[in-house]
Amino acid sequence: MSVGGFANGRKHWSPSPRSERAIGRLYRGPAPAGLGRSAAADRPSQEQVDETRRNVLKLLAVAGVLGAVGGGLGSAFEFVAKPPAVGLSRFPEVQLQDLDGSALTAARVLQEYNVGTTDVLAFDYPLSNEPNLLINLAGAGGTGGASGVPGGVGPSGSIVAFSAICQHLGCAAPSLAFYPAGTCAKRFGPLAFYIHCSCHGSTYDPTAGAVNLSGPATRPLPQVTLQWNRADDTLWAVGVTGPTVMGHSNTLQGGVGVGSLSRLQRQSPVVLCNFP
Ligand code: FES
Repeated sequence: MSVGGFANGRKHWSPSPRSERAIGRLYRGPAPAGLGRSAAADRPSQEQVDETRRNVLKLLAVAGVLGAVGGGLGSAFEFVAKPPAVGLSRFPEVQLQDLDGSALTAARVLQEYNVGTTDVLAFDYPLSNEPNLLINLAGAGGTGGASGVPGGVGPSGSIVAFSAICQHLGCAAPSLAFYPAGTCAKRFGPLAFYIHCSCHGSTYDPTAGAVNLSGPATRPLPQVTLQWNRADDTLWAVGVTGPTVMGHSNTLQGGVGVGSLSRLQRQSPVVLCNFP
């Protein structure tokens, strides 16, 4: 019988497993002869455990520092690599593309889009965050609508483009949209069609440089200068006249340029005959 490490009542001490563990904590060297290899030698010493813990903590600390430094470097790199959205120094010559990416032609516009078209057809120019409405004011088959309007191009002088960002508080297409005749009961003199903003009711005349027909906007929409190349029937955007595009300090600043091509996008208008 063994009680407290003393065997058979004699004062001959033999180490119990708990005693061995205690010795292991106190004694940092090799296990002394006589203690045997059983537990103390086969298990890692507390010092080894402590050393392992220290190494793990060091690794975690180094990983944390590297992560923080890497993240910082990543942010800095991103900051350096991202081109600043400073805008353009002059109006570019940009060829317009149809919905399918093919070259947009005046013939196509006259055939497919007319003064009765309800869809919003818009393209970005000169910056990628400056949408514009493309409108053909001539009627289908050359009847109705308006031709030879200010800034109008194409065989009938009826294809125009205006900023699709309202000059009141900046609602954009499709809230700002061309309303064909009959969309609303409201008429403005002889005009049964116009550009209207569903946000607060501003209305613009596309046959006269998008001047204001009803407020609250007090400035006309900027007009895109279009060019029609008779030789190949292509359409180009080459400038903007009128006030600055709403939301920009300068029509050429506050975004990135569209490049050399700009493609039409089709949307359904938000129609609210919301006149003040
Ligand atoms: Fe167009 Fe107010 S934003 S009328």
